[in-house]
Amino acid sequence: MEMKQRGEKISMLTAYDYSSAKIIDKAGMDVILVGDSASNVMAGNQTTLPITLDQMIYHAKSVMKGTRRALVVVDLPFGTYQGNSKEALASAVRIMKESHAEAVKIEGGAEIAESVQRILSAGIPVMGHLGLTPQSINKFGTYNVRAREEAEAAKLVEDAKLLEELGCFAIVIEKVPAELAAKVAAELTIPIIGIGAGGGVDGQVLVMHDMLGLNEGFSPRFLRKYANLGDIMTDAVRHYIADVKSSDFPNEKEQY
Ligand code: KIV
Repeated sequence: MEMKQRGEKISMLTAYDYSSAKIIDKAGMDVILVGDSASNVMAGNQTTLPITLDQMIYHAKSVMKGTRRALVVVDLPFGTYQGNSKEALASAVRIMKESHAEAVKIEGGAEIAESVQRILSAGIPVMGHLGLTPQSINKFGTYNVRAREEAEAAKLVEDAKLLEELGCFAIVIEKVPAELAAKVAAELTIPIIGIGAGGGVDGQVLVMHDMLGLNEGFSPRFLRKYANLGDIMTDAVRHYIADVKSSDFPNEKEQY
């Protein structure tokens, strides 16, 4: 909130393992998100739905070991908080106790208010997530831009205000028109972190594999690729294979 007040944009990026978290933290990232996108980019699933609480805790523990200064937020996975606020609290408590992360993120607005409230009442900071909420892909049917229609846009504004009133410390808004996201950011005092939500918000989040070019074929309009590690890795691996086949590796200096 202080960063928002002084107009300093918040940088946020996902990480799922120790080595990446160490690099991202050292580079100066403000927030590391252990996203349930691990289900896609780490486990190879089509959606975020299959990842389990145990798997999220495994990723979060690994990230925490590599992080010294960034705030680490962990997604509560699908099915661990929606139906029952006591279960939501138990899931959040497991993440905090077992991973030592500092906050949880959950998808949804009014429909999960009771869960948000109960988690907050235990002293666990909660980040909201509105707009395109990938755990609801089977309800939406597509990953297209959300809240283009007036009714959905109005509900998003209401949900954002509700999450702020409940005590969430920030909200991710995913894939909605830039004008709508900017309006929410202007009306709320807590930071709005956008992904595919334009530049009028308080910070940006991307999935690490997407922005490093490790997620071949994934090129939505909102994504800026800062490297093409997929190509670099392919070249390196091919080089290694060739060196092994030709007996160039290992050489005399690379043996005992
Ligand atoms: O799981 C994730 O990586 C996310 C980001 C896309 C915000 O929720």
